[in-house]
Amino acid sequence: MRITDTADLWYKNAVIYCVDLETYLDSDGDGIGDLPGLTQRIDYLADVGVSCLWLMPFYPSPRRDNGYDISDMFGVDPRYGDHGDFVELVRVAHDRGIRVIVDLVINHTSDQHPWFRQSRASKDSPYRDFYVWRSDTPPDTSEEAMFPGQEDGIWTYDEKTQEWYLHHFLHTQPDLNTANPQVREAITKTMGFWLQLGVDGFRVDAVPFAINQTTLTGADQHEFLEPHDYLRTLRAFLQRRSSGTSSAMVLGEVNLPHQDQLAFFGGEDGDQLTMQFDFTVNQKTFLSFAREDARPLAEALSERPQNLSVETQYANFLRNHDELTLDLLSAQERDEVLDTFAPEDEMRFAGRGLRRRLPAMFDGDPRRIKMAYSLLFSLPGTPVLFYGEEIGMGENLEVPGREAVRTPMQWSQDKNGGFSSARPSKLARKVVEGPFGPQHVNAAQARRDPESLLHHVSRLARRYRDCPELGWGELTILDQHHHEVLAHRMTSGDQSMILIHNLSPKSLVVPLTLHDEEKGTELIDLLQDGACAVDAEHATDVTLEGYGYRWLRVKRPGDPRLL
Ligand code: GLC
Repeated sequence: MRITDTADLWYKNAVIYCVDLETYLDSDGDGIGDLPGLTQRIDYLADVGVSCLWLMPFYPSPRRDNGYDISDMFGVDPRYGDHGDFVELVRVAHDRGIRVIVDLVINHTSDQHPWFRQSRASKDSPYRDFYVWRSDTPPDTSEEAMFPGQEDGIWTYDEKTQEWYLHHFLHTQPDLNTANPQVREAITKTMGFWLQLGVDGFRVDAVPFAINQTTLTGADQHEFLEPHDYLRTLRAFLQRRSSGTSSAMVLGEVNLPHQDQLAFFGGEDGDQLTMQFDFTVNQKTFLSFAREDARPLAEALSERPQNLSVETQYANFLRNHDELTLDLLSAQERDEVLDTFAPEDEMRFAGRGLRRRLPAMFDGDPRRIKMAYSLLFSLPGTPVLFYGEEIGMGENLEVPGREAVRTPMQWSQDKNGGFSSARPSKLARKVVEGPFGPQHVNAAQARRDPESLLHHVSRLARRYRDCPELGWGELTILDQHHHEVLAHRMTSGDQSMILIHNLSPKSLVVPLTLHDEEKGTELIDLLQDGACAVDAEHATDVTLEGYGYRWLRVKRPGDPRLL
């Protein structure tokens, strides 16, 4: 990797930050966050070290699923502003060196979308085939419903035309028939529209559902097109249409094991999704946290496919806007994580996950929380933060379902945590109360405290950005005898780093042997003052506090880099 490559494939060492406009900053006092509010905070985000903003759906929507039920893919929900405000946001972000990606929902629309209204109006409607219909009574599909408490299957009967339509999520989110070329064309047109307004890519929602042939066998009239061809077409279109100084990317939500994700990158060709969230590493990280044993995480990292195209990348995260799903773990592993971090029933979601934020799961222990974020930024791939993680926000369990972690951003100790001047009853969502509420956790206070999580995260972001071997390099898990410790090395060309994380509260000395390093090599600590020297036996000892972490950059004699 040359430094110039990092500008071409910019997403390979980006710091991505996800914003839900509704709860970020309300600029006009109506209780709902908006585009001008977010634009006011671009400098804050630049200060945190964010290099790419991910906007959750802001399109017109009846909001049965937090905006993922879209009724107009070309629009801006007037509660957030208009297209002018959107363009202003993108412009200010770009000026501060921040790229912008937006959510693209290709699997479904809202049932209020004009396509679905027409589709359900009659069997002869030209839009009938935009969705998936069946005339025979569906079997029991309760196991397949994504929101089991709310839906008892994935087919809903429609009185008017007396057939069933498919929906993996809510019945108000009918699944599009992505085998239909007209649907494919309509979706690429949407991408073209937002690219023209300046976006740098898309976070693509629920990808495996969208190309799952087995569920498209409803009443589809068309010859099936090869499902992965659809992703190839999207990627090729993106490449053709992205303009400006660098190419755009598609970051897909594919919650599948590594081996199955491979096909979504386009295998070795790498011609489908540019990036994918690594759900396996995410879930194994929480298993490792629960056990205070780094081995599950080390195994998950080691079994990532190695033969990926250079243009592809994994996105790492700790928490996101959804439940912390544990569906890739075994039932016993899942119970271990749930028992440790969600002891109360109300902290759980749909039997498979947690509706909590990380600091609350760690009982607010600042050492452990800082270690977790250090680990996130040190993993091979691109880190993704959910808004409020940088200041250590907690959840509000009084807010139902997954919304518990989507509470207003806590800016200050002011009314409503500085989110809005509206009456509390008018707020889009209730503010967190108690020890994680704005009286104790807020951005203004954190900015003044050099020891705050905010300063820690922004230091990590900056270090991550100037160590491209983290995003680009090859991973080696280093042998050492403490199972509580993850010691890994990232190497790209002659740049190399050693990253050590102690998942336990015990202090430890970690002896390391670096066979390819000679006496005279120094390991420069990038997060604090200090260095370790490699001796004539290629060895060094690294001391770690409880929940300690070290980022050590390998400096050989004569290395000209600024370290
Ligand atoms: C994705 C989103 C989630 C949404 C679902 C349906 O999983 O992350 O929030 O409910 O898709 O659109």
